[in-house]
Amino acid sequence: MKMDGKTVLITGSTDGVGRYVAARLASAGAKVLIHGRDKERAKALADEIRRKGRGEAVFYPADLSSLTGARQLAEAVTAKHERLDVFISNAGIGSRTLGPERRTSADGHELRFAVNYLAGFLLAYLLLPLLKASAPSRIVNVASLGQHPIDFDDVMITKGYSGSRAYAQSKLSQIMFTIDLANELRGSGVTVNSLHPATYMNTTMVREGGITPISTVEQGGEAILHLAVGDDVAGNSGLFFNGMQQAHANAQAYDEAARKRLRALSLELTGLSA
Ligand SMILES: NC(=O)c1ccc[n+]([C@@H]2O[C@H](COP(=O)([O-])OP(=O)(O)OC[C@H]3O[C@@H](n4cnc5c(N)ncnc54)[C@H](OP(=O)(O)O)[C@@H]3O)[C@@H](O)[C@H]2O)c1
Repeated sequence: MKMDGKTVLITGSTDGVGRYVAARLASAGAKVLIHGRDKERAKALADEIRRKGRGEAVFYPADLSSLTGARQLAEAVTAKHERLDVFISNAGIGSRTLGPERRTSADGHELRFAVNYLAGFLLAYLLLPLLKASAPSRIVNVASLGQHPIDFDDVMITKGYSGSRAYAQSKLSQIMFTIDLANELRGSGVTVNSLHPATYMNTTMVREGGITPISTVEQGGEAILHLAVGDDVAGNSGLFFNGMQQAHANAQAYDEAARKRLRALSLELTGLSA
């Protein structure tokens, strides 16, 4: 992997698999834009990268449970950088994070839908000019095998709420968005793919959920890196991977009408349609 001269933004890189991916890309020479909320964890990673003497790390703090936070992140990145070769939308909260109660974002949206999906949707669109100017460039949406179809009559899950349903709905939304955006970006030189990195990696969200890890961060991290920089996937777009293998997502992902509905709703909720 040679990443000299390349700039990569990885949301949620202060911890877990995002942190692993950021460190690997920096060690290959990339300028890595680290993102998260925790200054101390970001500093520890930036110091580690600096000590290794390859690549570069710049920290962008932003809370993605608010659309303003996502907007400010995109604005800060766009103001400071002339190129963006890879955008990895990885930040997320697990199905059991913050307890079993339904929670909402600063904008009043169901929290997992907001953080895991809507923030990444908004970021991708706001970063598109930079990505297009740096083409060939790539977007990677870190989704999951945990997928639940969207009930368009109750997208914010006010009835029958559970953290796992909310998590799985947000993850399928990312996959649907990936297919939709890939169609829109055909011919632009920007590709977009999504994946399930690995099952129950040893990360904070898994441990906090009381789940015994069965995969390593390295396994999931290498699968993300494959989509981010792998030569064999260059030019491929709109695909879903389970680890290193191309896979099928939930049937709703292939329902064009459902994708169109999700897009219209997302444009409206993020204010992009205005
Ligand atoms: N772990 C697994 O087995 C597994 C399986 C399938 C898919 N995934 C997906 O992989 C991605 C990474 O998960 P992980 O296991 O590495 O999780 P993790 O260790 O819990 O790390 C989550 C990252 O997201 C950031 N984040 C969380 N809420 C945020 C918010 N409101 N605003 C900004 N940043 C926020 C965290 O930042 P702070 O440092 O500020 O907390 C942290 O950097 C997620 O999208 C997850 O759904 C994980």
